Amino acid sequence: MLLPTAQTNGVIMKSEVRELLVDQMKDAYSAEKQALRCMQRAVRKVTAPALKEGIQAHVEQTQTHIERVEQALDMLGARPGRKVCEAMRGLVEEAQHEMEEHDKGPVMDLVIVAGMQRIEHYEIAAYGVDIALAKALGEDALMALLQTTLEEEKQTDMKLTEVTQQTLMADAMAD
Ligand SMILES: [Fe+2]
Ligand SMILES: [Fe+2]
Repeated sequence: MLLPTAQTNGVIMKSEVRELLVDQMKDAYSAEKQALRCMQRAVRKVTAPALKEGIQAHVEQTQTHIERVEQALDMLGARPGRKVCEAMRGLVEEAQHEMEEHDKGPVMDLVIVAGMQRIEHYEIAAYGVDIALAKALGEDALMALLQTTLEEEKQTDMKLTEVTQQTLMADAMAD
């Protein structure tokens, strides 16, 4: 029996890590698309102008995130495919469900933030792993692409906390 040498073993492992990154990118593509639809629906139910502007800005960023994932898949010689991100589906479903339980107003705004921050944290976790995989594979351009997206997800999360503390919480408590 011919045992694989350390080198061929390394090549096999590397191609598996590459496959894993392709899979993660397909997942991210589905996740971003679902997040986009969720935000587009949620923004209509927002009252506070600051929150509305924040979500609208992230809707635009998310459209770019989708394009970046498409670019990343292109770099890997792959296409988005039909993979569905089940985690995002759950997060979106829960957010939708919570929104149905409230009328438009200050508490609804908090409900929307709660759902959105869960979504942003999921994206932050996912892109963190994807960046680590890209780095390990020496895919520097791909890594830089995802890092830009990751920064925007983190900033969105921080802005949501800020608008909650500065505006939404006081509005809800006074309601
Ligand atoms: Fe995103
Ligand atoms: Fe996001």
